[in-house]
Amino acid sequence: MQKTSNLLDIGPRPQPAYWISKDVKKRLQNGWNYFGMDIGIEDLERAANENPGYALQGNLIKLPIKNNCVDEIWLMNVFGGFVNPPKKRNGSTTYTIGFNFGEILKDLGKILKTGGKILMGEYYRGPDLSKYDFSDTGFEAEIFNNGDAEKFLERYRFSMAHSETIKKWSENPVFVELRKKDN
Ligand SMILES: C[S@@+](CC[C@H](N)C(=O)[O-])C[C@H]1O[C@@H](n2cnc3c(N)ncnc32)[C@H](O)[C@@H]1O
Repeated sequence: MQKTSNLLDIGPRPQPAYWISKDVKKRLQNGWNYFGMDIGIEDLERAANENPGYALQGNLIKLPIKNNCVDEIWLMNVFGGFVNPPKKRNGSTTYTIGFNFGEILKDLGKILKTGGKILMGEYYRGPDLSKYDFSDTGFEAEIFNNGDAEKFLERYRFSMAHSETIKKWSENPVFVELRKKDN
């Protein structure tokens, strides 16, 4: 029996993973299932009109997905506009994804199959993901920042147009690839 592969794109609008990555597009053409999930109903409706797979409304911190069934999760620029964030301290204009980020990774790890990957990037106005300590999260982490972001764009074959947009948006885009280790 052919193995089913599932890709979950969290916060897919306005640039779903299959637009920005030729690698993702190719895999969808080769039979991978695509699920676009967003907390916002408006974003979801727009995604549903365009997705080549399934659109579902769901919250990253309360995932409506069974354990051990996802092969790859994309999270591009989700934390910059994160809904339901930890409370900001009075008078502070900064926030961190700190403790909640650890919880989020734990929950994402549960829905991933062993060996499955999470691909994250922040290049609009999100937090600096390279500051997070990924040891003891149950993932092998590869961080792409400074000059290395280009390697991530090449690995996932980002479109030329999107690569240019990224350079325009951010002087230091950060990408992280996490691979779920054996339990
Ligand atoms: C800035 S957009 C990024 C869109 C796209 N990935 C990109 O890079 O262009 C962030 C998206 O994440 C969604 N989002 C924010 N918090 C979320 C949460 N807790 N659960 C699911 N989606 C969330 C927002 O509704 C929004 O559509």
